[in-house]
Amino acid sequence: MTERAEAGATPSKTAAPAAARWRDAWARWRNRLLASPRFQRWAAGFPLTRRVARRRSRALFDLCAGFVYAQVLFACVRLQLFQILNEGAQTPDELAPRLSLSLDATDRLLRAAAALDLVEARAGGRYGLGPMGAVVLGNPGIAAMVAHHDRLYADLADPVALLRGERADTALSAYWPYAGAADPKAVTADAAAPYSALMAQSQPMIAAEVLDAYPFRKHTCLLDVGGGDGRFLTAVAESAPNLTLWLFDLPGVVPHARTRFESAGLDARVSIFSGDMFADPLPQGADVVTLVRILHDHDDTHVLAILKAVHAALPDGGTVVVAEPMAETRDAEPVGDAYFGFYLLAMGRGRPRSPARNAELLGQAGFSAVQEHPTRQPFLTRVMSAKRESVI
Ligand SMILES: C[S@@+](CC[C@H](N)C(=O)[O-])C[C@H]1O[C@@H](n2cnc3c(N)ncnc32)[C@H](O)[C@@H]1O
Repeated sequence: MTERAEAGATPSKTAAPAAARWRDAWARWRNRLLASPRFQRWAAGFPLTRRVARRRSRALFDLCAGFVYAQVLFACVRLQLFQILNEGAQTPDELAPRLSLSLDATDRLLRAAAALDLVEARAGGRYGLGPMGAVVLGNPGIAAMVAHHDRLYADLADPVALLRGERADTALSAYWPYAGAADPKAVTADAAAPYSALMAQSQPMIAAEVLDAYPFRKHTCLLDVGGGDGRFLTAVAESAPNLTLWLFDLPGVVPHARTRFESAGLDARVSIFSGDMFADPLPQGADVVTLVRILHDHDDTHVLAILKAVHAALPDGGTVVVAEPMAETRDAEPVGDAYFGFYLLAMGRGRPRSPARNAELLGQAGFSAVQEHPTRQPFLTRVMSAKRESVI
């Protein structure tokens, strides 16, 4: 029996294998020790444990304070502080009128942002762009994500109510109107505009990872299902100039894609199909289908429906490529399991899945030869591919 199955089963001490019982006993002993104020005081003073003890206390404090840190970043983004500091280091006196804040509030914000490496103190009482602020400035997708977090914070004000399903109309479900919509085709172009713009702003970081991980050049025609406003296909177009490109998305989204392809001079190369992937057949004939940040938006039943539709659209030997942040990603567990777990809960549908779970669902939909293609930043996205078996 695996540990996971054991956790879901009725607790039974006799049923647990000896190794699991030893692990439980060790964890009980360790936790009793860590919870003891006397041990904490001793560990914080003893030279061999001091560093670990301090690191752990600091990590725990960061966990308690994370929401405040995120709101400091939110304030910087909303006030465009990084753009202003990018012009050059400035004193609080110079910054206060530009931020429309009192001198005292400016000083408070700058000190908080400096403590978080977003800005940095420079000579002469000035403040300049800090290392984290520079990264945010260089990746507009991060600022766009931070800016729309006001909705997530509102939805998470009572996380227990959210977990109990007591919050029906969340701010995020209104932001992502297709999630849980009875008729996703009724989502208007206006309603689709904010989320399509957000996806487009964060897409370059994702596309760079996916294109480095998977060789699209070996294919002839790519269908991007749920392709949004076409930002991913625009990146593919550059890296695989001979590939025919197709995009499929809701009727409310395709006008945004048309605009992007026209302005990128790609309108002759890309075919756009509009429809509901749960109700309408996908176009047939592409030898590779991409699902970029699609599956985690849906529950298992809908994911299986999407994968079966993709399977039906592919020829024998065709490939499906799945790219999204996934659960159980080493050193990035909080991104998949905590951030996306609760984000998607607030959105009203979907869950982050581990590569193993995605592989199971791909298998159930009829795919085989499931493979993972390592990315440089697995917390941003992981990439998996699978094949529709050739019928001999
Ligand atoms: C999270 S966004 C990802 C967009 C894009 N693939 C990206 O990574 O930037 C999900 C996309 O799936 C599309 N979508 C959602 N439900 C759909 C449906 N039933 N049929 C077709 N597309 C759908 C949305 O309109 C949206 O563009």
